Amino acid sequence: DRTTVAIVGGGPAGLLLSHLLRKRGVDSVVLESRPRERVESRQRAGILEHGTVDALREVGADARMDERGLPHDGFAFHAHGERIGVDMAALTGKAVMIWAQTEVVKDLIALRLEQGEPLLFEAEVLSVSEVDGAVGDGAGLVRYRHGGAEHELRADVVVGTDGFHGVARRAVPDEAVRTYERVYPFSWLGILADAPPSSDELVYARHDRGFALLSMRSPSVTRAYIQVPNGTDPSSWSDDAIWDELEARTALADGSFTLNRGTITDKSVTPMRSFVAEPMRHGRLFLAGDAAHIVPPTGAKGLNLAVADVRVLAEALATWHDTGAQELLDAYSDTALRRVWRGEHFSWTMTTMLHRDPDADPFDDRLALSHLRLIAQSESYRRSIAENYRGLELDL
Ligand code: DHB
Repeated sequence: DRTTVAIVGGGPAGLLLSHLLRKRGVDSVVLESRPRERVESRQRAGILEHGTVDALREVGADARMDERGLPHDGFAFHAHGERIGVDMAALTGKAVMIWAQTEVVKDLIALRLEQGEPLLFEAEVLSVSEVDGAVGDGAGLVRYRHGGAEHELRADVVVGTDGFHGVARRAVPDEAVRTYERVYPFSWLGILADAPPSSDELVYARHDRGFALLSMRSPSVTRAYIQVPNGTDPSSWSDDAIWDELEARTALADGSFTLNRGTITDKSVTPMRSFVAEPMRHGRLFLAGDAAHIVPPTGAKGLNLAVADVRVLAEALATWHDTGAQELLDAYSDTALRRVWRGEHFSWTMTTMLHRDPDADPFDDRLALSHLRLIAQSESYRRSIAENYRGLELDL
């Protein structure tokens, strides 16, 4: 088989790219190794930057988001019992949307299948090869197993959107890629609970006992996270212990904050990592999303960076497809990496400011506290945090 763009990985980056390309008249095939039910049930983050919301609107995946998503104008820090509000809408004129990644993925899948466009589940990619050389001669090769047989797909361009552990990045020779990495000495224990959100706004808390985050999925469902040691088994935490810890870490000194408790319906542990592979292109192979970079979850940049990558890539591919001009494709890696490194810095900043590093010395703690005090005191500093949180303008 042949196509113009072979997309390896049917998560949000690969699916959205297929839709952006279709809108621009460019054919693609999406190959996803997992079953549809698995892709649609993974619990991930839930904050969409305004630019991410725009991209979902552009491809027509906005009806359920508008009906059930929760627009948020701001968020709060709870810093050792003091509340610091960040009014994003007042400071930057833009808001974010709470709409879970799993819901985004469900809509993108349903739309693709409704259109009758190629999207295969349980298509295990065995290799990505013949990617050295120019874009446009149909020579890129993806070999995959589907329905008990092996298949070959030839494409002008191969895009790897198959995540950090995917096969696409491995098709780049070691000497052609440089990686940057930081692993953190803590993880997040995340829960979903049948409990109304405890406040209208998200709460990011720093406390001597560690980080806590209160988020939500609907007016009756709370999503929350606490910092735990690496290697923690989620079943070692009882429901009561999780609520007690969330309560202790998010409490305000004046007693004005009360935590709503409820039945916990999902528990999982996520390790935290920063990672960037440069460049994001090798010959006919382009990497996007987690296949090229990972951020720790604090600040919810992972999905948003993946969406920004494929917006830039879709424009570049459409220009090449229509005119043969390759300048935008040649610029893709540098353009995408500028935003990626902004996201890396913001996510690292939020993570180090809000967590207790078990190996940190008191100097690190004092710096984090001073950082939070600066946010409380300075409106211009709060504006800068708000701009990063809701997402800077896309640099095409
Ligand atoms: C959520 C996750 C995040 O990492 C974050 O910074 C905010 C919200 C969430 O899952 O709702």
